[in-house]
Amino acid sequence: MKDNETEFELSQEDFDFLRGHVTKLTGIQLPDHKKALMYTRLARRLRALDLPSFKEYRALIDQQLRVGNNEELLNIVNAMTTNVTAFFREAHHFDELTKALPALLEKFGRVRIWSSASSTGEEPWSIAMTVAEFKKNNPHADIKIVASDIDTQAVEKCKKGEYEMSEEDFKKIPLLKTYMEEYEQPEPSISVRSGFKKAYRIKQELKRSVDFKNINLLHAPFPLPYDRLHVIFCRNVIIYFGKDTKTALFKQFAELMEPEGLMMIGHSESLMGINGDFELLGKTLYKRKS
Ligand SMILES: C[S@@+](CC[C@H](N)C(=O)[O-])C[C@H]1O[C@@H](n2cnc3c(N)ncnc32)[C@H](O)[C@@H]1O
Repeated sequence: MKDNETEFELSQEDFDFLRGHVTKLTGIQLPDHKKALMYTRLARRLRALDLPSFKEYRALIDQQLRVGNNEELLNIVNAMTTNVTAFFREAHHFDELTKALPALLEKFGRVRIWSSASSTGEEPWSIAMTVAEFKKNNPHADIKIVASDIDTQAVEKCKKGEYEMSEEDFKKIPLLKTYMEEYEQPEPSISVRSGFKKAYRIKQELKRSVDFKNINLLHAPFPLPYDRLHVIFCRNVIIYFGKDTKTALFKQFAELMEPEGLMMIGHSESLMGINGDFELLGKTLYKRKS
């Protein structure tokens, strides 16, 4: 892959070695056309480590693995995950959640929600805002939310609840104004300094409503704070997995979920041919069969 524009050579052998590790660790499949993506994401690691080539990078990983050190593999996981997300992405899921809460509370007395690939937090905080609105009229409703991701840096960002966005985007979603506030960054980023974006953070009153974990969806049993779940958001992550990984994951989800529980998946994902325990209710919305 070395030409005049690329700094490091990424041979097919290097690519196969690295993608093998990524798939083994995360379930994320990297077909040949993702070679350029891998180059861009990992060239940064080579620069940070001051390494001259991907060959040396492989040697470093091998050397670490020989002594049981996973440090660089963890950096690869964080670099290779795609964290694209947004507040109230696929907004109908949040309306469906609000509609489903009364029946779930009536049947189970409590509702436990898991945002299982929560990326940088926009999804779990949108769930928390939806639940906070519901609680205005149902103050005693016992609802808890846990959010998790494999990417340790993304989980840290989730916890902080600090985001940059344009004022225009912020104003497009009225609930953001209720549950977030503008704040002054100690060291403002370029986008904030230049006025393209503003810094907003989740208000303290909402901060306590989400529990955060670092969980790999490949490794059941999952270290969740609840035994049973009533709602799972698993959106825009299985698109990267192979069929066997998806099948195994939804078998685990089915075991953890109460009958009638809600499962939300991403806009281009489907459970067709993957698991018979879930019944399609609407667009990318399923329920755990009784
Ligand atoms: C595109 S984001 C989706 C975020 C959010 N669910 C949404 O729909 O907006 C995909 C997320 O899946 C996470 N991910 C990838 N493989 C994973 C795994 N094996 N276990 C847990 N999370 C994983 C990535 O780190 C990334 O944050």
